Amino acid sequence: MSINYSERIPNNVDLASNKSLQRALEHWQPAYLDWWNEMGPEKSQTAEVYLRTAVSVEAKGWAHFDYVKMPDYRWGIFLTPQDPQRTISFGAHKGAPVWQEVPGEYRSTLRRIIVTQGDTEPASVEQQRHLGLTCPSLYDMRNLFQVNVEEGRHLWAMVYLLHAHFGRDGREEGEALLARRSGDADNPRILTAFNEKTPDWLSFFMFTFITDRDGKYQLAALAESAFDPLSRTCRFMLTEEAHHLFVGESGIARIIQRTCELMAQHKTDDPAKIRALGAIDLPTLQKYLNFHFSVTSDLYGSEISSNAASFFTNGLKGRFNETGIADDHQLHGSEYPVMDVVGDRIVARHAPALSTLNERLRDDWVADVANGVSRWNRVPEKHGIPFRFSLPHKGFHRRIGLFAEYHVSPDGLLMSESDWTRRHGDWLPSAEDRAFVHSLMGRVAEPGKFANWIAPPATGINKQPVDFEYVRFS
Ligand SMILES: [Fe+2]
Ligand SMILES: [Fe+2]
Repeated sequence: MSINYSERIPNNVDLASNKSLQRALEHWQPAYLDWWNEMGPEKSQTAEVYLRTAVSVEAKGWAHFDYVKMPDYRWGIFLTPQDPQRTISFGAHKGAPVWQEVPGEYRSTLRRIIVTQGDTEPASVEQQRHLGLTCPSLYDMRNLFQVNVEEGRHLWAMVYLLHAHFGRDGREEGEALLARRSGDADNPRILTAFNEKTPDWLSFFMFTFITDRDGKYQLAALAESAFDPLSRTCRFMLTEEAHHLFVGESGIARIIQRTCELMAQHKTDDPAKIRALGAIDLPTLQKYLNFHFSVTSDLYGSEISSNAASFFTNGLKGRFNETGIADDHQLHGSEYPVMDVVGDRIVARHAPALSTLNERLRDDWVADVANGVSRWNRVPEKHGIPFRFSLPHKGFHRRIGLFAEYHVSPDGLLMSESDWTRRHGDWLPSAEDRAFVHSLMGRVAEPGKFANWIAPPATGINKQPVDFEYVRFS
């Protein structure tokens, strides 16, 4: 079904045929806009932004680009079309038709899963709300705002499910999603990583590269769900998510590029000299990578989890690429390696695969992050600079799971409390590092101009030139 833009809420779910659902969502819509105006990008209400809007859910050509004022963005409900043949691909119900309605016994669990996912979407908009004021270029500002409006749409995606399938409880959850605030002491967002600040553009690019990639893996696991509306919602969200990952990966690559250019030009690898030249030294970038990687690792939860096992067995949440995996999809008697601490050493052991699904999803994500990092490493390589970025050990700087009670160095050695206290400033951004990065942030809002600490992109958005006026101010 094509997207109907003549309705107040654009959708491809035939919303007009369900009047009570339509009314409930039209009631939520002004509350959403109030939230956007209060917590969305600061001082951006009148800017005209060159944004893409979904006009179809087909794999090719779903995007339409035009200037839009963000409060006028047509947030809507877009699901990948239903496959009437689709059956449950894993767990105890494997082979049965997928569910179009929520089974009573899984109602509260599914609601919790949807709310937890949904909560991350407005959280990231809140975390990023000041960044427009310090954008390194109009191109970057446009990308930030694109990410922001799409995270807003992802909230719509989850609130639609709550309204359509969870009755009054769902409507109450929809209101609570607009009431929590990232970093708020009394009513914070659900997950810790979404209460951290995103205070500068280096953090933003790391966040979109690393934490949006957690989003990709969570959505991919939910796209396997036996609850078909959730699966279809997540499938379309994944197509939007790909751009967020691009923004992060290319953003960091451009920072590395600029730093390497200056290092080559001035024949130096001295961080103090690089900083004096107004760029971010590579060791500082590595510290930010360590920080965002470790904080995001925690989002996958404990290595051993009976919740993850029951989500899988009950068909609520699959593995990444579940249908592409060649096994029984029920994990009877199979095992998966997890880490363990024995005495003063970290060792690998095998545990029942069903209980290690969090760890497995984390491993899939780690491999994907590592691929991105190796693409970054081509930049110093190309400049003849020996520095290489690397991911810290999975146990480094963790607050959740097996490693929460230990201190682990980036190369995987257990450390004493006092050694950690002495050394962690070498591995995580210090207050001084953050202050330096912060000092570089200043708004560059002239077409084709870029802040000194970041290289221009190789190409523009939607085949537009790099010096295109991506944001217009009236
Ligand atoms: Fe999202
Ligand atoms: Fe995202």
